Amino acid sequence: MKLTSNEFDLLKGFVEKHCGIHLEPGKEYLIETRLTDIAIENDCKSFFEFYQKAQGDTTGKLRNRIVDAMTTNETYFFRDDNLWTFMREVAVPELLRKAASGPVRVWSAAASTGQEAYSVAMLFDELARAQGTPSLSRNLEIVGTDISSAALFLAISARYDSLAIRRGLSDDRRTRYFTESGSVWVLSDEIKSRAKFRRFNLMDSFAGLGAFDLVLCRYVAIYFQESFKRDLFQRIGGVLKPGCPLLLGATETLRGLADEFESTVHKNCTAFVRKPSR
Ligand SMILES: C[S@@+](CC[C@H](N)C(=O)[O-])C[C@H]1O[C@@H](n2cnc3c(N)ncnc32)[C@H](O)[C@@H]1O
Repeated sequence: MKLTSNEFDLLKGFVEKHCGIHLEPGKEYLIETRLTDIAIENDCKSFFEFYQKAQGDTTGKLRNRIVDAMTTNETYFFRDDNLWTFMREVAVPELLRKAASGPVRVWSAAASTGQEAYSVAMLFDELARAQGTPSLSRNLEIVGTDISSAALFLAISARYDSLAIRRGLSDDRRTRYFTESGSVWVLSDEIKSRAKFRRFNLMDSFAGLGAFDLVLCRYVAIYFQESFKRDLFQRIGGVLKPGCPLLLGATETLRGLADEFESTVHKNCTAFVRKPSR
């Protein structure tokens, strides 16, 4: 099926409206490669017919399939060494200190298939054990959210295939936290229980999420327009407790986007700390 420029504009608008993902001209191939099969399955002879069907779908099922297909779910355990150095030397020790007197909450705001959230849980467990307070892990609550139901299904299952398990995870962590079962690796119940996942669109209101001691919002805003990024980071500032860090992907910055944060550099990692409320 050939995508015309009018069809590209319509579908690009549809995708951006429903998940914020912005497709620049030149990304026509993304629509063609990711949506053609779904269009055929839905008995559409053209992308225009497909767009009309998606617009008219009152169940939301087709919309969700389109959004799912247009997301890029690339992730792996302990992604970006510099960030995890900051986590090990600064962020998690601070969370442990707070956990001694009550629950601490971490948000993995584009959790994909769960590796980021579970990396936090494993590191927290390791450092809690190292300081002789393993029970502090019970005070850690990780909220993992993503718009992709398919990605979340894997996150919730906490089962990883032989390729995913090799990406970013040391042999030591793999044997300590996972059990091999046939061709998959199953995460321990204890680490799994630290993270709760749910479908959530970052375009939606954050009311009801509660307040967080740490937010990871990594490699998702790169797909959004400046105006949405600004709005998103401002709203993240609203759910992050003052003095607490927001962590982005290594190639991302808040420069010029959000006044409610100040940057701090630890070794080669920049964290964005929520300023005290005025
Ligand atoms: C590249 S992955 C990043 C995963 C992880 N944060 C990491 O850094 O390894 C981006 C994720 O953002 C999700 N995403 C895209 N648009 C979203 C939206 N509007 N709301 C919530 N999640 C979204 C995608 O489904 C995808 O799983």
